[in-house]
Amino acid sequence: MAWDDIPDWSLEVAEQLLAEVKEKDPFTFFHCCRVGRRSRKLAKALGLNEFEQSVIEYAGLFHDIGKAKIPTEILTKPGRLDSNEIEIIKTHPELSADMIKHLAHVPFFRFMLPGVRYHHEKIEGTGYPNALSGDSIPLFARVIAVVDSFDAMTHARPYRNPLPEEKAIKELKDFSGRQFDAKLVNYFLELIPHLKKEDEKDQHQEEVVVSHLIKKAA
Ligand SMILES: [Fe+2]
Repeated sequence: MAWDDIPDWSLEVAEQLLAEVKEKDPFTFFHCCRVGRRSRKLAKALGLNEFEQSVIEYAGLFHDIGKAKIPTEILTKPGRLDSNEIEIIKTHPELSADMIKHLAHVPFFRFMLPGVRYHHEKIEGTGYPNALSGDSIPLFARVIAVVDSFDAMTHARPYRNPLPEEKAIKELKDFSGRQFDAKLVNYFLELIPHLKKEDEKDQHQEEVVVSHLIKKAA
């Protein structure tokens, strides 16, 4: 097997891991699917090759699967979390990485780990789990961070309404270079109008979302 082979059982692994999340918290499941798909598009816009795009797509799909291991009453709490609950939520990137670590002997899965583990790091060094800063945050994680935050802001949660797209765009710009990689924000802002069109095309397909999304982008 070449180092850049994508095992034909990868999709099966994704479906199994995401099924667990879907049962526990459907919002997180659909969020993971969108982040996977859109991270691939951002990777493509950056000029990354097909294999790298697939690694990023899967890392996006898996970035929050560790939330399946967080107690439901915390994960779906319809109000503000207390500081202890926030600390528990903050363990999810490492929990997500732990859920795919046993596959790390396969390069395709090994390359996903940094994207999954470090998707909540911030450029200025105030993120978690390791408070990495700048370019010491792996590129794949910086890609997922932008796509993840935009998706989270533009979708409703039990405790808040979604932000209008213009406001979410303003947040990305305001935190560009502080929370987010400025270059990636610029690429993503250019992508946003296209993402919307594709979402309209995809909107009736959420139930078959995993196989649909993982299919290589045309
Ligand atoms: Fe996350």
